[in-house]
Amino acid sequence: MFPQVVFGGDYNPEQWGPEVWQEDARLMEEAGVNLVSLGIFAWSRLEPAPGVYDFTWLIGIMDLLHAHGVQVNLATPTASPPPWMVRRHPDILPVTADGVTLWHGSRRHYCPHSSSYRTGAQNLVTRMAEKFGDHPALALWHVDNEYACHVTECFCDASIAAFRSWLSQRYGSLDELNKAWGTDFWSQHYGDWEEIQGPGRMPAQGNPMQSLDWRRFFSDSWLECFEEQKKILREHAPDIPLTTNFMRFHKPLDYWEWAKSEDVVSFDSYPDTSEPQWMVEAGMGYDLMRSLKNGQPWLLMEQAPTQVNWRQRNTTKRPGVMRLGSYQALARGANGIMFFQWRASQAGSEKFHSAIIPHVGTDSRVWREAKALGMELKRFEGLLSSRVQADVAILFDWENWWALESGDKPVNDLNLLQRTIDIYAELFRRNITVDFAHPAGDLSRYRLVIMPHLYLVSNRAVQNIEDYVARGGNLVMTFFSGLVDETEHVQLGGYPAQFRKLLGLWVEEFVPYGSRDANSIQTDTGDRFACNYWSDIIRLEGAEVVAHYLEDFYADYPAVTRHSFGKGSSYYLGTSLEQAGLSWLLRRVIEETGVQDRQNLPAGVEMTLRSDGTHTWTFILNYSDERLQVKVPLDGINLVTGAVVKGFVSLGSKDVAIVQT
Ligand code: GLA
Repeated sequence: MFPQVVFGGDYNPEQWGPEVWQEDARLMEEAGVNLVSLGIFAWSRLEPAPGVYDFTWLIGIMDLLHAHGVQVNLATPTASPPPWMVRRHPDILPVTADGVTLWHGSRRHYCPHSSSYRTGAQNLVTRMAEKFGDHPALALWHVDNEYACHVTECFCDASIAAFRSWLSQRYGSLDELNKAWGTDFWSQHYGDWEEIQGPGRMPAQGNPMQSLDWRRFFSDSWLECFEEQKKILREHAPDIPLTTNFMRFHKPLDYWEWAKSEDVVSFDSYPDTSEPQWMVEAGMGYDLMRSLKNGQPWLLMEQAPTQVNWRQRNTTKRPGVMRLGSYQALARGANGIMFFQWRASQAGSEKFHSAIIPHVGTDSRVWREAKALGMELKRFEGLLSSRVQADVAILFDWENWWALESGDKPVNDLNLLQRTIDIYAELFRRNITVDFAHPAGDLSRYRLVIMPHLYLVSNRAVQNIEDYVARGGNLVMTFFSGLVDETEHVQLGGYPAQFRKLLGLWVEEFVPYGSRDANSIQTDTGDRFACNYWSDIIRLEGAEVVAHYLEDFYADYPAVTRHSFGKGSSYYLGTSLEQAGLSWLLRRVIEETGVQDRQNLPAGVEMTLRSDGTHTWTFILNYSDERLQVKVPLDGINLVTGAVVKGFVSLGSKDVAIVQT
């Protein structure tokens, strides 16, 4: 898509005058900027009054950037409707579950179901597509900004009407809806579509399916807004790819569905680098972005050059950390590194958010580090068509996330993301590259698939997972998985009924722990580990016991099992293990399945490989405070320094090597 590694950031020239634009263009050229995101919040400048469009200034800027070799990622500025629109059409404003209207004066103050908003957005996008579709600087469309950030849902009348029609499309009839929602419980039977409301404030627990469908509906509604703009942009500029910026594991939007509609995945990443494990969570976000489009390279659309402004304490990225984090993204499949933002704002709520050009100007560490990175990235265009290979996948599904974390469960504090991070962190520490996969997606290329707490599973996914193992795959499933179908009805016949054959067991009873409960397990090799939070009472039907409980009324019952199924194997973890226990289990599975493990690297070193079939690029990142000697799997040339690498590379603190072989 781009001939070079992309380097740039959000550029908001509307906040500055023409003299600054000239300086900006010159400095962009100096720093090696080749792409900027323009116009993201410029609606009120592009359409200052209803139907009155002013594109002259933007054309001038695009011409100027073009003359300086900078391409444009042009945004549709629909994330922040202008005040005149609110005044004319107050119905665009979102309404909370409590009936509170969210006013303008900030951003994202619109309901996706407001027809006034949608018409206004379509009109503006059509004009922009006509005007800019063939501008020579235009390289990418940036649709809206961070969909479902701040406002995730709306309870206005238009939303409720849209919910009803979404439901009627999904279920076809009220009978089907009543069945799916289990409305014989607590007398909730619906006799007319008009009786259906959103899951607003209620006296007690609401219907779990009403909430789950509401989540599905809103993810679809925001996507509909995106699709509507995409259609217009495609019509006028069929060759220009488009994207919208994602936000890590962003709960309101099912990114598996969204990524299908994008040409390239782009991502806004804001790790708090004062946290010792910042690189683990950042890496996990990057691996998700790569996985969403089946390994296709993605763009780091935004990151902070140093601090953000929206945490309680906005810590500084210390020297070298921004560079290191940028290379982490590249190592994990990004083909571009961009920032929020180019020049620090003088006014507005983000004026203390860092930028490539800080308030103090270019005599600054931040500018020097950014510029040095921009120059350095020019050396890596050779790796643009390479891919990251992963042997291991973690299953992650938004519908399961929504269902698992709402309603009333045996435990109501099971945090799926945190549990996924715990598993991911173990693999990260061993330098095992991980993809994320949809439970119904293609799993055939993985040696190992881990399935944390997949409570809700469709029949299609059940079949997919079973086929994967039968054909030789290896699975690790954790407790509270495989319990309900897509309508959140419990699968009867012994938990987890549909995986009974695959696992060679059934679960008779759940034992959630009270705050004073504790237990431990003993493995078949005699190791002991503490367990906490939960125990399944497992009844065997063919599986072998890998570890059993030591105490309580279920002492000696299996806690961890293994079962051969078809050509593969499935492990089941019926409890929550302390970190050492989780580490033991994963090590055992990794050894058994032959997943390549690089755990003998020095602590604080990350190693990831990209390959295009001809060349391999080994990324080695040193997060530690020490200089380290790191053994490389393949000799070659370190593209960062130009030095020949044989056997080892010596890396200073926060330094990186990219060894091309
Ligand atoms: C998000 C937004 C940007 C900006 C940054 C600040 O990523 O997309 O407009 O607000 O956060 O960190």
